Amino acid sequence: MGNPMNANESTELEYLMEKAREAAQNSYSPYSRFKVGAALRLTNGEVVTGTNVENVSFGLTICAERSALVSAVSRFGPEIRIEAVAVTNLNEKASPPCGACRQMLAEFIVPDAPVMFPSADGMRTMAFSELLPMAFEMKLK
Ligand code: THU
Repeated sequence: MGNPMNANESTELEYLMEKAREAAQNSYSPYSRFKVGAALRLTNGEVVTGTNVENVSFGLTICAERSALVSAVSRFGPEIRIEAVAVTNLNEKASPPCGACRQMLAEFIVPDAPVMFPSADGMRTMAFSELLPMAFEMKLK
């Protein structure tokens, strides 16, 4: 079986990964020293990046993915849709998006959007719906 991504999509993701890497340079991570960057491509063609920002009260730390997401909504408004995501770190370790970030991304992402991230066995790309198959939804009726 070949690569399910076409050449254009793969180049797009490489570009997004480069942006994620650049964003990771701005990481504020004096406690973990784990420098993470994320880049989101929106359906309006814009790329928005974010990095992790830690806090001495550890639980207040915001991950790179959520940081990019809040920046995207702040810049382009509540109608944004995310069509591709790249996450990386400067520590050369695995860093798939954490559960909290997956749930936050679920609110704005196209279900089959590719998500590229470093896994234990190298760079990996998965559809978002594979990463979070049962996101919480609130349907009151
Ligand atoms: N981190 C992220 O930025 N994204 C994730 O998906 C998981 C973890 C950050 C938070 C913290 O600053 C550092 O990585 C170590 O957990």
